[in-house]
Amino acid sequence: MLKKKYFILPVLMSLFLVGCDSLDPEEIRKRQHFPGKDFVADVQQGEALFVANCSRCHGPAGLGTGQGPPLVNKIYREAHHADITFHWAVKNGVKQHHWGFGDMPPIKNVSPEDVGHIIAYIRQQQRNAGIQ
Ligand code: HEC
Repeated sequence: MLKKKYFILPVLMSLFLVGCDSLDPEEIRKRQHFPGKDFVADVQQGEALFVANCSRCHGPAGLGTGQGPPLVNKIYREAHHADITFHWAVKNGVKQHHWGFGDMPPIKNVSPEDVGHIIAYIRQQQRNAGIQ
């Protein structure tokens, strides 16, 4: 019984890898809610997009409100919350796990490129606050 399991696992894994191989890299980016490969982030655009879409909970400078946590906080430094966690937060929402503010809902009408600009703004705010 145990032996069978060990045989099936590598077979399944190789099928999975073959499946991935045939996916177009642009398609993978889209599925992950990532901007296209030629995307260049802009901090100023990021600030405007953040204020319009995120500040009601995270505060206009990312310092938090009564509705949501500060993103300018060492919990959200790049080594602990990589850029992909921002893309997934916007696309899928976030279940409450670090704080007591409740869940973050998915944020509609914010594109992967918009999130790319927002990340550039938040990373700059973090650097300015001495958070690396
Ligand atoms: C309705 C309130 C609300 C809005 C609007 C909102 N957030 Fe959040 N967000 C939250 C809350 C609450 C949490 C904390 C969840 C926890 O960890 O307890 C959170 C957590 C996050 C996290 C951490 C994700 C993780 O993996 O832990 C990121 C990144 C984030 N928000 C980015 C954004 C961005 C970018 C926007 C705007 C496009 C945005 N949020 C808009 C409420 C909000």
